[in-house]
This record gives sequence, structure tokens and C-alpha cells, in this order.
Amino acid sequence: MHPPSASGRKQGEERMGLFQWLFLFSLSLTAAASDDWCYQSQECQNPGCKAPRNWVEINEECGGTNQSPINIVTSKVENNWNLKPFEYTNYHIRQQSNWNVTNTGHSVQVDLDGSAKISSGDLPGLYKAVQFHFHWGRWNNVSKEMDPGSEHSINGERYAMELHIVHIKDEYDLSEAAQKKGLAVLGFFIAIGEKNKNYDTFISKLADIPSHGNKTEMAPLPLFSLIPEEEALKNYYRYTGSLTTPNCNEGVVWTLFQEPIQLSSEQVQTFVQKIYFDKTKNLPMEDNFRPVQPVGSRIVYKSDSDALVPPAKTLVLLPVAAYLLFSSIQ
Ligand SMILES: *[C@@H]1O[C@H](CO)[C@@H](O)[C@H](O)[C@H]1NC(C)=O
Ligand SMILES: *[C@@H]1O[C@H](CO)[C@@H](O)[C@H](O)[C@H]1NC(C)=O
Ligand SMILES: *[C@@H]1O[C@H](CO)[C@@H](O)[C@H](O)[C@H]1NC(C)=O
Ligand SMILES: [Zn+2]
Repeated sequence: MHPPSASGRKQGEERMGLFQWLFLFSLSLTAAASDDWCYQSQECQNPGCKAPRNWVEINEECGGTNQSPINIVTSKVENNWNLKPFEYTNYHIRQQSNWNVTNTGHSVQVDLDGSAKISSGDLPGLYKAVQFHFHWGRWNNVSKEMDPGSEHSINGERYAMELHIVHIKDEYDLSEAAQKKGLAVLGFFIAIGEKNKNYDTFISKLADIPSHGNKTEMAPLPLFSLIPEEEALKNYYRYTGSLTTPNCNEGVVWTLFQEPIQLSSEQVQTFVQKIYFDKTKNLPMEDNFRPVQPVGSRIVYKSDSDALVPPAKTLVLLPVAAYLLFSSIQ
């Protein structure tokens, strides 16, 4: 509280204080706008934008201890017998309405109607697929290859791209799901390999949505046509993390499948060539990934559904336990 002012000079100072306060208030409003964040690759052209290291100024959850993406160190993962294969509902059929494909200014996103669902895989209930989007790297003029652009990495190695199929608990809408920790993301690495014909239609649509905010429609595809065959999907990693864009909501159940999707180098390059971050097509969309975050005390688990015998540890420990039991009786 200010004491009552005694002089005109003092009043002037107070008015100044009010203006400064209004100025700071309008700044903080600007900072709160979620469009204000950017990837590191956009920083040179938009010096004011908040790059990943400053996302914590948008939402403090971005500085939390359970953030994504992470680097998975395979020698430290723990096998988990509860990580059974998922049950997929309507992943093999097309949704009834057209797909909306949008350049969000941060990625290319397809909104889904929620009819495709997953359960099992140690998920607490049924989850519906609400959207999918991609992360990718950049063209390297020296190596004449795409530099990797996946968000997660395995033993420090990143893939060319990463596909995220975002699911929410069946009974929630998007905002509830973020608040009530009802999000589960299926992450697929994309490796450079054979041309993938199933992606032809989708990739041909990229030319129609170069600018931030552009939208187009396409005939829907079965989600299974975009990912590796179901048999390969039983091998995956599991950890608890966050959304990889502001507001970085934590409590996201992450699943990363070991088997990558394959796209040709030309198919991956099309993302960089056709899609721009901005409305004026100045800045090609490239390196739209968040750097890896500290794993901290979290444990990354691995499905072990291939194994038919109990883990080796049990086989070794059983005779030891029996021996100890007998020797204590004697
Ligand atoms: C696609 O966009 C149209 C028009 O905006 C909308 O009516 C429809 O619900 C959207 N479809 C999905 C699956 O989001
Ligand atoms: C990449 O190299 C080609 C020539 O090999 C050149 O024309 C082009 O401008 C270069 N692109 C960048 C972004 O440096
Ligand atoms: C794409 O967005 C730009 C910039 O907002 C706009 O001028 C253009 O008309 C849009 N194109 C399509 C096909 O929507
Ligand atoms: Zn993502």
C-alpha cells in the first residue's frame, strides 16, 4: 500500500508507477499467449519468441521433473510383464468423415473423430485417438541427407522423424484430459528406408498447406496403414512424461515402439520443402522438435511379451531361496 502523497512530485512518480505496471501487465499477457512459443530453429527470424529453454516462462510445468522427450538408455530399461500388446479398436478402418490436415505453425496435424481407440498395454482404461502430428529435422547441405528430427532418442541416436498419435481417456474432452492427466501418446520413430506408398496421399497434401493456419481435407485412411504391422507393435518402451509443447502438461503415458515406420528420403524431404512455420513462407518448417529433457529418477520400462520363460533373475533366485530355506531348517 502507498502512503497518502504529500507533494505533486510524489503524485507524478505514482502515475509513472501505474504506467509501468500497465506496461508490465500487457507484457505478461503477451507472454501468456500460447502462440508466442517457438522452436530453436525459428529464433533467428523471431528474436522475441520463446524457444524451448524459455518455455518455462509460458508455463512453469515446462520446467518440471517429468518432462518429455527423453533419451532412452537401453541398458537401464526394466522389463515389465504388465506391458502386454495393446488392443486396437477401429485402427483397421477409415473414420466416416474426411480428415482435416492443418499446418499449425509448429507441425502438420490431422484431427481425428475419436472412433479409433486403444486399451490394454497397462493403460488404465479405454483411450480414443484425437489427433496425430509429426516432428522432423532439416536438410543437411554437406551430408546431402536429412538430419535427424525425432524428439525421443535411443542411446543418444535420433531418427529422421517421429509420429505422435495423441489419445485421451474415452470419457474426457481435450481440456479435461490435459487437466486430469488423461493423456496417452503412441510415439513411432520414422527411419529413412523404402518408399512407403501408404503415405503418398498424405504427403501429396502437404503442398496445399504451406502456411501457418492453412487447412485441407483428405479421404481418411485406416491408422494401421500408417504404422508398422501389429505383430511388430508388441515391443515398446513405457514411461511417464509430458506433452512436448507448451503447456508441457505432465502425467502423459508415453509409449515408444521399437519398430520404426519407413519413409524414403524424398518423402521425408517433402515435409521440409513444402511446409513453412509462418504465414509468409519465409521460414521452412524444420527441426520442430524439443531437445531431450532430464530423465531424473524416472524408470523407463520395456514390454517383454516375446519371452516365454520367466526372467533369468527368478531362475537364479529360486534355487538360492530353496538352499537358504533348507539350511535354516537344519
Ligand atoms: C473437420 O473440419 C470440419 C469443418 O471445420 C468439421 O466440421 C469437422 O468436425 C472436422 N473433422 C474432424 C474429424 O475434426
Ligand atoms: C545447398 O547447396 C546448393 C548447391 O549444392 C545451393 O544451391 C543451395 O543454395 C544450398 N542451400 C543452402 C540452404 O545453403
Ligand atoms: C494459406 O494461408 C495464407 C496466409 O494466411 C493465405 O493467404 C492463403 O490463402 C492460405 N491458403 C489456403 C489454400 O488456405
Ligand atoms: Zn508431438
